[in-house]
Amino acid sequence: MGHKKKLVISFGRVEGRSFRYAVLAGCFLASITAVTLFMPNTVPFSAVSLRVLIHSAQTGLEVIDSTDSRGFEIVSEHDELKEWKPLCNVSEPRSEVCDMNGDVRIHANSSSIQFITSSREEALKRSELYRIRPYARKGDEVAMGSVRRIIVSTSEAAPHCSINHSVPAIVFSVNGYTGNLFHDFSDVLIPLFVTAREFNREVQFLVSDFNPWWIRKFQLVINQLSRYNVIDMDKDERVHCFNHVIVGLKCHKELSIDPLRSPKGYSMIDFTRFIRNAYSLNRETPIRIGDKHNRRPRLVIISRKRSRSFMNLNEIVPMAEELGYKVVIAEASATSNVTQFAEIVNSCDVLMGVHGAGLTNLVFLPTKAVLIQIVPWGGLKWMAMYDFGYPAKDMNLKYLQYEIKPEESSLIEEYPRDHLIFKNPLTFHKQGWNAIRSTFMDKQNIKLDVRRFRDVLLEALKQLHQ
Ligand SMILES: *[C@@H]1O[C@H](CO)[C@@H](O)[C@H](O)[C@H]1NC(C)=O
Ligand SMILES: *[C@@H]1O[C@H](CO)[C@@H](O)[C@H](O)[C@H]1NC(C)=O
Ligand SMILES: *[C@@H]1O[C@H](CO)[C@@H](O)[C@H](O)[C@H]1NC(C)=O
Ligand SMILES: *[C@@H]1O[C@H](CO)[C@@H](O)[C@H](O)[C@H]1NC(C)=O
Repeated sequence: MGHKKKLVISFGRVEGRSFRYAVLAGCFLASITAVTLFMPNTVPFSAVSLRVLIHSAQTGLEVIDSTDSRGFEIVSEHDELKEWKPLCNVSEPRSEVCDMNGDVRIHANSSSIQFITSSREEALKRSELYRIRPYARKGDEVAMGSVRRIIVSTSEAAPHCSINHSVPAIVFSVNGYTGNLFHDFSDVLIPLFVTAREFNREVQFLVSDFNPWWIRKFQLVINQLSRYNVIDMDKDERVHCFNHVIVGLKCHKELSIDPLRSPKGYSMIDFTRFIRNAYSLNRETPIRIGDKHNRRPRLVIISRKRSRSFMNLNEIVPMAEELGYKVVIAEASATSNVTQFAEIVNSCDVLMGVHGAGLTNLVFLPTKAVLIQIVPWGGLKWMAMYDFGYPAKDMNLKYLQYEIKPEESSLIEEYPRDHLIFKNPLTFHKQGWNAIRSTFMDKQNIKLDVRRFRDVLLEALKQLHQ
């Protein structure tokens, strides 16, 4: 079970980003993560020694263990009472994050960030050095392979400041799987919200692997988080000096936030409110059926063209209309104008679509609206839950999941009914993500059984009553 969970999480990492995906079967994930968690992998100098002193009531000082769980060396030190928090935490499962208070100097285009120590002694004792990839999909080497490493280190020598900043800095990359809406939100925008929101726009963003297209696409969101122009870290030759620098973005789970771990307790409800504000979306809640003005509930169907597309919209739409819905069909693609798409989705009460990046538009729905996720054939229901089901619940949306039967899949035209693909789709999972993708994601279209699906649309209406 725990194993299965891991497997599912790793699929979530790559959803939609098919062309860049290499095998990352879940069974490997744990070990990959375990390796990347430990210092020797990220730090070329094997002996990063962190001197931690542990207090004991009787003796004053006591050493518990020579190595703590992060792989740091713990050294007893009788004459030195100072305790340093390491510059970076590389133990978080989804991202590496450095949070540095003090004299921090960023030489942008050499990817070097130095924490200037107050004395030579401190510099010698700490000598911390990390190579951080500031993108929140740790453990996924395909995504992370494209992310430039930033060198974060302690240093006694201080490069001359070209410019002094009075606000904190946040350094992050927009490479990895960006360009896919799911990853735009799950890997960057939500983690950026978690990391930056508490500064009330008084924060400077420095972006590595700078991509002007991406920055423009999400400019409205960025503007709501920082009132300063983004600095392109790849080009800027200046030395920027700060008193507080965060490298990497805090990230808790797929397309969501854990309020218990986020600064000021931010949740996905806060995030969706923030997004509605960024895009000037005016509907906070869906219609309540039975209200006096009696508008028809609006259903938006996210359509896909190349794979996992609906083969019988001509049956689905009239059936939905017969139940009283006003139906809107919206096709999501990487070049969609986010503002326009957000307005369409926010104007609706129910969003339905087949598992895929387009469902990420759920962030624009009014709170308590209904998401219907249609899960293609292939044992994909856990992946569906991790990518959109649990996030929908965290956003306080009503969530309905519809798993199709073999008869509703285009695969039935290609394989005999007694084929392994129908009898035991999980056997394909054992061959890794490429097999799953090519079998179930890229080559499957969906012909909904409108009689069976009708009940789901009725249930959605019922949910809008509540
Ligand atoms: C680093 O992250 C781990 C995992 O979330 C956490 O348990 C630990 O307390 C963090 N360490 C520090 C120094 O914040
Ligand atoms: C910074 O970038 C410029 C332009 O690419 C390059 O000429 C220069 O050598 C770089 N400086 C450093 C220190 O990498
Ligand atoms: C930045 O601040 C330092 C320390 O206060 C000062 O010595 C330096 O001249 C300042 N540099 C600039 C460019 O303002
Ligand atoms: C998206 O559409 C809005 C109008 O609906 C327009 O103001 C904006 O410039 C467009 N954005 C892009 C990136 O094309």
